Amino acid sequence: MKKIIIVAISENNVIGKTNGEMPWHVKDEFKHFKDTTFGYPIIMGRKTFETLGKPLKGRLNIIITRNKNYSVSFNDVIILDSLEKSFSYCEQNNFEKVFVIGGGQIYSQAISLVDEMIISKMKFKAEGEVEFPKINETDWIIEKIMEHELFEVFLYRRKNVRQN
Ligand SMILES: NC(=O)c1ccc[n+]([C@@H]2O[C@H](COP(=O)([O-])OP(=O)(O)OC[C@H]3O[C@@H](n4cnc5c(N)ncnc54)[C@H](OP(=O)(O)O)[C@@H]3O)[C@@H](O)[C@H]2O)c1
Repeated sequence: MKKIIIVAISENNVIGKTNGEMPWHVKDEFKHFKDTTFGYPIIMGRKTFETLGKPLKGRLNIIITRNKNYSVSFNDVIILDSLEKSFSYCEQNNFEKVFVIGGGQIYSQAISLVDEMIISKMKFKAEGEVEFPKINETDWIIEKIMEHELFEVFLYRRKNVRQN
């Protein structure tokens, strides 16, 4: 099973605000996110889930929290207490890929565990306090896969991962 981070990052490395808001709304970028993740499980931190306010359609939504009593009033949502358990759950259920969709805390823990990252580099700076963790560029094979007016999409593949 391929473990993949998907993220949009501004020129100054911002991914969000501490109040949960996204600093930008770029329709094409949301479409790219939806098209890429549709049909696959998505793993997110509790704060990102609460920012979304509801599960994203057509995908198994997995929420990570340390709160044992956390519950939501939606079907098709799974609540687990670690990233590792989330990956194991997806593996056991024979998913071909799983996407880690944020936010900052979850990306920081996932960056050393994933096989690939699909990064939308926004062509502007943004205001916000939540940043993407530092990427050690030498660990990755980097390929530009899409060009859009307001962003470009790069595929990062970890160097020691078997290509198939
Ligand atoms: N630009 C993008 O592509 C993108 C994507 C997604 C999100 N965002 C932005 O990112 C921001 C949110 O990021 P964030 O860092 O504040 O929060 P987050 O990563 O979404 O969620 C953090 C929460 O996840 C849970 N958690 C973290 N590590 C855990 C662990 N090891 N075990 C169990 N639970 C764990 C905790 O929940 P409990 O407190 O309940 O225990 C923690 O408070 C928002 O501004 C959002 O808009 C941006």
